[in-house]
Amino acid sequence: MWCFYLLCVFLATVSTGTCQCEIPKHHTEIGCQPVHDDDPECPTRFDCDHLTTRNSSKCHYKGISYDLGEQVYAEDICLDACTCTDYGFDYGVNWHCPSVDCSLGTTIAGYECYKQHSFDRCCGENFCYAPDEELPVVQCEYNNVTYLHGQHIETGVPCVKCICEPEFDGTLDGPGCTTTYDRHSIELHGSTLISAGCAPIYYDISPQCLYTYICPVGGEYVVTPDNSTESDYKCTFGDLTFNVGEKLFTWAISECAECTCSTPTLLTCLWNTECGTL
Ligand SMILES: *[C@@H]1O[C@H](CO)[C@@H](O)[C@H](O)[C@H]1NC(C)=O
Ligand SMILES: *[C@@H]1O[C@H](CO)[C@@H](O)[C@H](O)[C@H]1NC(C)=O
Ligand SMILES: *[C@@H]1O[C@H](CO)[C@@H](O)[C@H](O)[C@H]1NC(C)=O
Repeated sequence: MWCFYLLCVFLATVSTGTCQCEIPKHHTEIGCQPVHDDDPECPTRFDCDHLTTRNSSKCHYKGISYDLGEQVYAEDICLDACTCTDYGFDYGVNWHCPSVDCSLGTTIAGYECYKQHSFDRCCGENFCYAPDEELPVVQCEYNNVTYLHGQHIETGVPCVKCICEPEFDGTLDGPGCTTTYDRHSIELHGSTLISAGCAPIYYDISPQCLYTYICPVGGEYVVTPDNSTESDYKCTFGDLTFNVGEKLFTWAISECAECTCSTPTLLTCLWNTECGTL
């Protein structure tokens, strides 16, 4: 029964579909506890005290502490194992997950070469053909661009990856396309940024597509709406403190990301899709 109970708690706090709570996943991913106060349905804030009390000389992942030099699997075929690393003063002890190096290519005199990709490998395999040969038969078209068999299709939508395969039907939710909402573990890949006071930005909140991070660089300030009131719990971003309902102004991407203190303690940032992609 406890198993079922845990599952319920997980769904109720993480899934946006089951209880109409548009709660981004970053708090639960870094181990903060949802606090409901007077709202039985949706958490009103998260208790992230463990971030300040746990041993900052270790790395942390899914509730387990690791010593310097210890490794965990990166959960992403394009990343090597993550190693607990000491970054020094600014970023402290955090995970380092280097990217797999796919740069090695082949050139064969007199041949055209390109990389053929598949979803189960990070790096594509070289495919070469003589220019006077017929092109590889499978071709796909998306947004007026023609792709050859195995090429990555430029979808313009983060978290949706498509590869030109015979079955590709021109839609982003059809064959040849896959979504990667779960790949970007904030604990593994964003912990240095979160430590530095940054906030995650979502391209989409439902389903949750983590897109990038926004970091304090100086010159940001708090925008207070007319009806704002002092709240018991605050959000933080770098050295700034926000009441619930207050927003962040940042010079860096002011038009393209809207960051609001909706569920302390981290800001909730949404990407303005009219800005296209970075
Ligand atoms: C934190 O971890 C370091 C490295 O493992 C250890 O030397 C230190 O004693 C720990 N500190 C506390 C307060 O547990
Ligand atoms: C694709 O090409 C057609 C015809 O050349 C043009 O009418 C259309 O606007 C183009 N679409 C895009 C997305 O560029
Ligand atoms: C403040 O005003 C905004 C926009 O008019 C509204 O969406 C928000 O719910 C209001 N907040 C409070 C605390 O009344």
